[in-house]
Amino acid sequence: MFRFGILSTSHFALTRMIPSMLAGRDISVAAISSRDGSRAAQAARALGVPRSYDSYEALLADPDIDAVYNPLPNHLHVPWSERAAAAGKHVLCEKPIALDAAQARTLLAARDRYRVLICEAAMVRVQPRWLAVRDLLGQKAIGELRAFVGTFGYRLDSRDNVRYDPAMGGGVLLDTGFYPVTMSRFCFGHEPIAVVARAERDPDRGVDRLTSAILEFPQGHAIFTVGMETFPVQRAQLIGTGGHMEMVNPWNPPGNSPSEIVVNTSSSLEEPAPRPLSFDPVDQYTLLAEHFARAAETGGPGPIPLEDSIKNMAVLDALQRSAASGQAELVG
Ligand SMILES: NC(=O)c1ccc[n+]([C@@H]2O[C@H](COP(=O)([O-])OP(=O)(O)OC[C@H]3O[C@@H](n4cnc5c(N)ncnc54)[C@H](OP(=O)(O)O)[C@@H]3O)[C@@H](O)[C@H]2O)c1
Repeated sequence: MFRFGILSTSHFALTRMIPSMLAGRDISVAAISSRDGSRAAQAARALGVPRSYDSYEALLADPDIDAVYNPLPNHLHVPWSERAAAAGKHVLCEKPIALDAAQARTLLAARDRYRVLICEAAMVRVQPRWLAVRDLLGQKAIGELRAFVGTFGYRLDSRDNVRYDPAMGGGVLLDTGFYPVTMSRFCFGHEPIAVVARAERDPDRGVDRLTSAILEFPQGHAIFTVGMETFPVQRAQLIGTGGHMEMVNPWNPPGNSPSEIVVNTSSSLEEPAPRPLSFDPVDQYTLLAEHFARAAETGGPGPIPLEDSIKNMAVLDALQRSAASGQAELVG
């Protein structure tokens, strides 16, 4: 049994990731830690997790933990992932893995020095529907991919949320802009050369709350719009030279009902021929945790190589630069 320890009582960890880990095969959650011991104890009790700690340090000192799951605010991803690695723990770290590419690169040294797996929790990369999209692209099901269009809008309830704090790596680009960036790179199989971004910022806190962008790949374009004060919506559309495909809720498909890729290769707008491909419901977070655990145990490659996460951060860096400069920016 592969044993995870959890850094913090993050909302997402308590409501999504821990239940998904508890549903996994040959993986368990051994302990939860918090800056507040009573909060950790209460969370552990509620979720049936055997141990709790009143500090992250105490969790790292537990010899009966194989890997740490790090869902801390974004500015604490690298510092605590490094400390976990130094304690000999494998690390599954929430997205984005760092505040920028330079900070993400420091994790390479930690990984190699302590010989542990460090992996970003980009669950979409193991989602069967996205793996099928890439297979379809490889089979030229829509000809050559020319454009990737992504949206991810949601509405934050509270201004106390970490996403409103610029010092914590807040803002919607790092939060959900992350998804179209990582999946357009995944689908094109290349890095974008240059990017343009526009951000609308919260007047009080300065974080971006609505961001739209163009990524110029060697083969075509990706465009996206993400917002954290909009009506909730998630869509992805891939347009090729011989057809197009669409997905509803591409980043968070419901875990309890089937999802679809709709492929259309009719060239007649009047007579579309949508072909829905159906996918069984899956818990992509369980798949991610299982895949990560097997890789850590066997010394195999993680589901998302750290080098890939660093390249992703380099694109997010260029988007931040472009939003600030108002100019197109080269990636890297
Ligand atoms: N993959 C996904 O689908 C997905 C979805 C949602 C979120 N996430 C990621 O998960 C991470 C956490 O998001 P969340 O919404 O769960 O945030 P959250 O509820 O605010 O949780 C962050 C936790 O970090 C701890 N913490 C330590 N220092 C802190 C500080 N200075 N200020 C605030 N909290 C501090 C707190 O736990 P204690 O008080 O217990 O120590 C807090 O509960 C983010 O990186 C986000 O991108 C990923």
